Amino acid sequence: MRNKLILLAGILLLLGLLFSPGAARAGGWATLTLTELPKEVVAERPFTIEFTMRQHGHAPVTGFDATVLAVHSASGEQLSFATEANPDEENYTATLVLPQAGEWQWEIETWGRVYPMPPLMVNEAVAAANGEGVRGTAVGAAPVAWQLILGWITAVGAVLSLFFWTRQRSKLRLAAALLLGVVSVAGFVLHAQMPQSVLAESETATLPAIAPEALGEALFVAKGCIQCHTNDKVTMAPNVFPVGPNLTFVKRPPEYLQAWLADPSSLKPDTQMPNLHLSDADITTLVEFLVSE
Ligand code: HEC
Repeated sequence: MRNKLILLAGILLLLGLLFSPGAARAGGWATLTLTELPKEVVAERPFTIEFTMRQHGHAPVTGFDATVLAVHSASGEQLSFATEANPDEENYTATLVLPQAGEWQWEIETWGRVYPMPPLMVNEAVAAANGEGVRGTAVGAAPVAWQLILGWITAVGAVLSLFFWTRQRSKLRLAAALLLGVVSVAGFVLHAQMPQSVLAESETATLPAIAPEALGEALFVAKGCIQCHTNDKVTMAPNVFPVGPNLTFVKRPPEYLQAWLADPSSLKPDTQMPNLHLSDADITTLVEFLVSE
């Protein structure tokens, strides 16, 4: 009887282990680091993202399926993209095509978790094409505005009327000169007030995918810092694994942080924080973000 009970308990324990989410994920947790934030994104134009998964925040792993989900903020259009695991490079890649301009929220789903990424601002395909012709846009000479034509014709008319008036001073000629002069000035003024985009459509500036002032927070999210560290300055994604200290208020001097982010184990050999192989530019932006009020 006792043996049977022990056997039953053993079987139950085994089943519990098999079906627990932890076991299904090969034990534990993983952090996700995007290699690079997209700089500029244009509607309909494919771009590639690359990321690394680190089991327990350390060893890179590629054995899991991962999917990218993107949602257009204004219309709610939803898209999902497959990712490709590259065991040799120890990373994943995915090619994304976002069909609409405006803000897109996106996240990577893997390891039984959702990893939110910083929202991307996508440029209009036509305006951003600058003659490259994403949709085969014809970039010809800008049409001459009618206000300008009116301004010039009436200006010539006013000068002629004035000239004829000097020959024979009739009230009619003077009135015509004055009227044409007023219409001419109005034409030029209207033209000057036309919005810049109408005057030079092909010169529309392209927006960066991440606004410069949001870059620090975006890196804190995309590089995976927020997964291990709480930080009240971050709203783009929540903290998931409370393994590192809260970084809302950082007391360390910038030089120390710079060295820490370049290689944590150089300052503390037994640290749990991985070297994320950040670029110098990313480290500078992250340090500014960390010490900002
Ligand atoms: C896998 C989890 C993990 C990730 C990812 C991670 N950290 Fe850490 N971090 C830690 C842990 C754990 C510590 C505590 C280190 C220790 O004392 O050994 C730490 C410590 C720190 C410290 C404090 C250093 C000190 O000595 O005061 C800073 C600053 C820091 N991390 C910034 C970052 C930034 C910025 C990122 C993203 C680029 C990041 N961390 C990503 C786990 C992580």
